[in-house]
Amino acid sequence: MRFIILGDLHYAASADPVVAASRDHFFEGLFRQVAAQRADLVFAIGDTTQRGTVEELSAQTALLQRAGLDLIRLTGNHDSDSLAKAELASFFLGGRDSASPDELYTSFDAGPVRFVLLDTARSRSTNWSGFVSDEQLAWLDNQIARYNQAGAPRHIVVMGHHPIMNTTRRSDERWFNIENSPAVEAVLTRLTRGAGIYACGHNHINSLAGPDAQGWYYIQVGAPLVCRSYGLFMVDEAGIRFEKVDIDLTDPRFRADYDVTRLSQGADFNEFPFEHMYGAESDHRLRIPATL
Ligand SMILES: [Fe+2]
Repeated sequence: MRFIILGDLHYAASADPVVAASRDHFFEGLFRQVAAQRADLVFAIGDTTQRGTVEELSAQTALLQRAGLDLIRLTGNHDSDSLAKAELASFFLGGRDSASPDELYTSFDAGPVRFVLLDTARSRSTNWSGFVSDEQLAWLDNQIARYNQAGAPRHIVVMGHHPIMNTTRRSDERWFNIENSPAVEAVLTRLTRGAGIYACGHNHINSLAGPDAQGWYYIQVGAPLVCRSYGLFMVDEAGIRFEKVDIDLTDPRFRADYDVTRLSQGADFNEFPFEHMYGAESDHRLRIPATL
């Protein structure tokens, strides 16, 4: 089976009709390219939108439908900027019920993988770092324990918008991580079988780390508007292979719409040159062997 993770998309409302038209042309084209990969599951790892308004989420959903792409959204700090989690629920987790009435997290099995989708985003806060509530930590602990006990599925993939501190690029910087990372790590270290993947976004840079002593790999998927790429995971008997996939920008009009959309995000978003954010070969490819 194959699954895709899209980094921070930052689909943003715009009062400028030229920017809005370029934005929609770019995102519909990106979604069509992703749909053409025919992956079994496609995730967006948070900051799917700029402000998390119904306007942005509905407009993005319409583009997804036009492109024929089902997207499983996780929450990011930007997504939870405007609305309460309960108001966001219908747009997130791919229509699945949350395990919590107050936050948006869940787990499910697909083929050889147990997917655990975290909600690391604070609700309507000026603090854009991540946080995992006590209730969610207890739930995650139970998820790991149940995975350990069960003989199947073979792999566990935990996803959260924010990185674990001191793993992938910039995760050592203030607010570029889950603030209570040590508490999350204490739960992850309870993994007793197989290799685990923790996938994240937030820092916009392609970056890979691990495995650590407990066998966890950390995969940070860069923002498509910045890195011109997204993450593809291929799962077979040999294990899991991760590869970044470059967005095809060879069509001049599509490329122009991409540039308008990227530049409309402003100076902070475009602070570093493409090459810095895109990374090197060691940020792009990973092979995780299957273990018993
Ligand atoms: Fe973020």
